Formats: sequence, structure tokens, C-alpha cells
Amino acid sequence: MNTPPDAPTADAPATDVHSERRSRLMTQLGEDSAAVIVSSPERNRSNDTYYDYRPSSDLWYLTGFEEPHSVAVLLPGHEEHPYVLFLRDRDHAKEVWDGERVGVERAKEHLGADAAYSIDQLDEYLPKLIAGRERLVYSLGKDETMDRRVIKAVKNAQFLTRRRRPTPETITEPAGFLHELRLVKSAAEIEALKHAVRISGLGHIRGMEHTRPGLTEYQIQAEIEYVFKKHGAKSPGYPSIVGTGVNACVLHYIENRATLKEGDLLLVDAGAEVGYYTGDITRTWPVSGEFSGYQREVYDLVLRAQMDVIRMVRPGEKWKSLHETAVRTITEGLIDLGLIDTSLDEAIEEKLFRPYFMHGTGHWLGIDVHDVGTYAVDGKSRVLEPGMAFTIEPGVYFHPDTEAEFPEHFKGIGVRIEDDVLVTEDGCEVLSDNVPKEPEAIEELVGSKL
Ligand code: GLY
Ligand code: MN
Ligand code: MN
Repeated sequence: MNTPPDAPTADAPATDVHSERRSRLMTQLGEDSAAVIVSSPERNRSNDTYYDYRPSSDLWYLTGFEEPHSVAVLLPGHEEHPYVLFLRDRDHAKEVWDGERVGVERAKEHLGADAAYSIDQLDEYLPKLIAGRERLVYSLGKDETMDRRVIKAVKNAQFLTRRRRPTPETITEPAGFLHELRLVKSAAEIEALKHAVRISGLGHIRGMEHTRPGLTEYQIQAEIEYVFKKHGAKSPGYPSIVGTGVNACVLHYIENRATLKEGDLLLVDAGAEVGYYTGDITRTWPVSGEFSGYQREVYDLVLRAQMDVIRMVRPGEKWKSLHETAVRTITEGLIDLGLIDTSLDEAIEEKLFRPYFMHGTGHWLGIDVHDVGTYAVDGKSRVLEPGMAFTIEPGVYFHPDTEAEFPEHFKGIGVRIEDDVLVTEDGCEVLSDNVPKEPEAIEELVGSKL
């Protein structure tokens, strides 16, 4: 497999891209606000080892900074230091073990900070920085230790300003501002997302090529994640779902220990995270390279529903119409298969499709696999705009324990087909179209490299 050309990244050079984002956010927030954006905590894995560190998406989006124990404070309109960064001090003894740190002295030059302080000074300086601003923009509830420190800083800031009035007066979620920005991707972000999705697709292709009965789910996972890593992914964007037989009916199955059996399907939902953008692709293929008649009926139905939705995507379309279309096509198909025996309208009204199609049709995609941004605005469905990226992923599942009754021959069949799309000026681009989904093309690929 050829290595694709160097990844376009949305973070190089760090200061330009991220500085523009900070400026846009600060313009929206206005001079009455201060924003405090914190890094994710490190998480212990076992004894003295830690899970791979992954920066908080919001902090990385705004700063490009990847180190733990950091906090960005944005002060719109501040004449000297609208962007203040708290970060770890340099420490030779620690750097010998864990790698180089940027350190306070280099934060201005490397990260474009207007002022930088040691993270150890956060409790002392934060109250002074936010005092006098009416609103503090901070995401509560993600890190209790940091929540306590921020609330204490608010109290101390109110103490500092008590002769006027207590400010900050409110703490507001950043979602309404920051996540609106993240929802519409810039040209650089689109390139980065396309790259991650392409690599995700190459992983799926290799997974198909290396499938045969007798192998295990984790061996297929290894083939797929090998491709991700080989092309620069630090890790998958979420735990890979590799489920054969009835495991395909477990939506977030990540155990991946079972053996692939002749005649079963294999459902793979996996995406590579490259440069902090992730793909999210699902394909379902027959272990032995040929769909059975019943599997094919279910597969064709899911594919039809997915294509019906993809054809709708364009600026101005309502988000919720996409799911309504998937529901309609799938419900029609379930009626045709003899699984529902009411009229289409009644089946939709009564949600009789739910035992078989129990999840949404998609979600925003970007730095997070379930990317930020609301699906409704002022109580009305979000309307699509160019630059929005999301998944389209209908599925039909016949879990043996479901309450619905269905013929034995459908038992254990689970099919999902998931692509990643970008809304363009006049329609959409399917970013994951390098992975076949036509059943004949899939059948040809399965086991072809063994
Ligand atoms: N991979 C999780 C999802 O498709 O939402
Ligand atoms: Mn998804
Ligand atoms: Mn997925």
C-alpha cells in the first residue's frame, strides 16, 4: 500500500490557524466576558502507567497546545494580554523521562500567547484576570478538581470587585459560542478531515481484503488499525467496533474477541484520528465473501436508506428530515419483508421500526467523533450549511433478545453502513467514497489478499 502524500494538517503553523479562531471567538464573546478553557486531565491506566494523553478538543482547537496541565484564558478586548496561557514549567529531570515541554518562557514564541504563567500560579492569578468581567465562559462538569478551582477563582474575583458589584455574575457553557464555530469547518479543517477519512477508508479496505472464516475479530481489527497507524494516526478516534454474527447487533460492541464463522456477517465501525480529526466509517461484509439471500435483503434495504439520505444533503435541508427519510425507507422495507403489518404511516407513527433501527441516522463529525454543535436552534431543526460535516449511518439489526418477533432466518443479522459527508455549496461530498459499499464490490474484495 502506498503512503499518501504528507497529511495536510489544520494546526500548522500552530499560531496562525489557532489565533484566527481565538479572534473569532473573542469577537463573539465581547468585552464583558472571559473564557477559561482547560486541558483534559491525565488518566491513570494501571499502577504508574497512564492512558495515552489526548488534549481537550476545545483547548486544542483554540491553541494548538498538546500538553496536559494547561489552561487558556481569553480576555476579549484586553489591550495587553487577550490570550493568557498557564502551562507546566520546564523540568529537566521530568523531561528526561517524559519528553520536552514548551515551558513558560517559550509560550509566547511557540504558541502565540500574550502572557504565560506557570500552571502552579493559576489559583493566584485567575481571580485577577477574570475580575470585572460579567460573564465567565467555562464548561462545568468535566473535571471536578478544576471545577472547584474555577468556582473558587470566581468567588475570589467577586471579592476583588466587591466595591462595585460582584463579577463574574454568571458561568456560561462555551457551547453556544465555541461549538458554533467548530460546527462549520474551515478549508484547512476540511482538508484535515478528508485526510483522516481517507485513511479510515484504507483501513476498512484492508480489513475486507484480509477477512476469512477462522480468523478473529481482533485480527481484523489489527489489520485495520495497522493501516491507521501506518498513515500517521496516533490512535483510532473511538474504540473500533468489530462484531461478527450476533455481535453486529450490539451497537457499541468493542470486545472484539470472537471467531469469524462461515456464513456470518462482520460489521466494522472504525475511524482513524489523524491530526486531531477523525473518520467514522461502518461497513458490513460477509465473512466468506458472499452474502446469503436474507443477508442481502437486509443489506440492500440499509443501502437504499443510506443513499436516499445522501441524495438529500445540500445547504438549506433540515437536519431532522435526514432521519425522517431513513426511517421512512427502512420502515417501507420492513413492511416489504413482512416484519411489520400495518400501513406505512401507522408504522412510523407507532415507531414500529424501533426494534430494528434504534439509533439516529448520523451526527456531526470533526475533532470529536460525535462532534460538537446542536441539532436544533431555537427549538427548530438545524438547517445544513456548507462546511458542516457529519455521518450518515442507518442500520437494521435483528438482535435475538429483542421483543419483536421475526423469522428465525433473520436472527443475528446486523447491518450498518456509515459514510462521512461534507455539505458543499450545492450538495455534498461523500468523503469516505474510497470504501466500496455496493454488495458485489464488497464480495470481490473480501479475502482477496489472503
Ligand atoms: N462510531 C460511533 C458512531 O458511529 O456513532
Ligand atoms: Mn457514527
Ligand atoms: Mn461509527
